[in-house]
Amino acid sequence: MNELKIRNVFPDDLDCITRIEADCFPAAEAASKDSFKERISVFPQGFFVGELNNKIIGFINGGVTNENHIKDKFFKTMDLHISDGNNIVIFGLDVHPDYQKKGYAKKLMNHFIRSAKKDGRKKILLTCKEHLIEFYEQFGYINEGVSQSQHGGAKWYDMYLKLK
Ligand SMILES: CC(C)(COP(=O)(O)OP(=O)(O)OC[C@H]1O[C@@H](n2cnc3c(N)ncnc32)[C@H](O)[C@@H]1OP(=O)(O)O)[C@@H](O)C(=O)NCCC(=O)NCCS
Repeated sequence: MNELKIRNVFPDDLDCITRIEADCFPAAEAASKDSFKERISVFPQGFFVGELNNKIIGFINGGVTNENHIKDKFFKTMDLHISDGNNIVIFGLDVHPDYQKKGYAKKLMNHFIRSAKKDGRKKILLTCKEHLIEFYEQFGYINEGVSQSQHGGAKWYDMYLKLK
């Protein structure tokens, strides 16, 4: 059965999520286990995992803000999370390398967009590397150019999706 089941994260998913993140990102950019622990406990409503046959193969997670651009500090702490804020930030979208290019990231993103609309958010914000700009444009995200982000020492682009 290859149907992706998407659900909100559980605290017990922590180890599996941390492993997938380490397989998807260089060490300087990967979120730590402690960061995931905090995100899962503070805002599980904005953290979705995708499962195939009860095995997590990917996830998407975020936090809420009234800012229009993502502060690097937000990747490290949920102190900046405002649950009734206007805009939702995507911290990361991961599909384990063994399961990429099968449409699963697209399903996770579409689920996240539906949830953000249901919650009445105005925009979804994210930062991405240059090679993923087109990937996000397919959902309607607008590229605002090079971001001020110094996250992991890489060059990032600010993108947003207007929801209302
Ligand atoms: C980026 C990532 C999430 C994509 O996951 P995926 O499951 O392979 O993507 P999908 O199979 O859902 O791709 C959906 C569509 O996007 C396209 N696409 C995938 N990667 C792309 C890329 N780098 N550039 C442009 N289009 C891309 C696919 O061709 C597909 O198009 P289609 O629907 O017309 O066939 C995955 O490669 C990943 O986890 N990478 C490492 C972590 C990362 O960089 N995350 C994003 C930054 S936060």
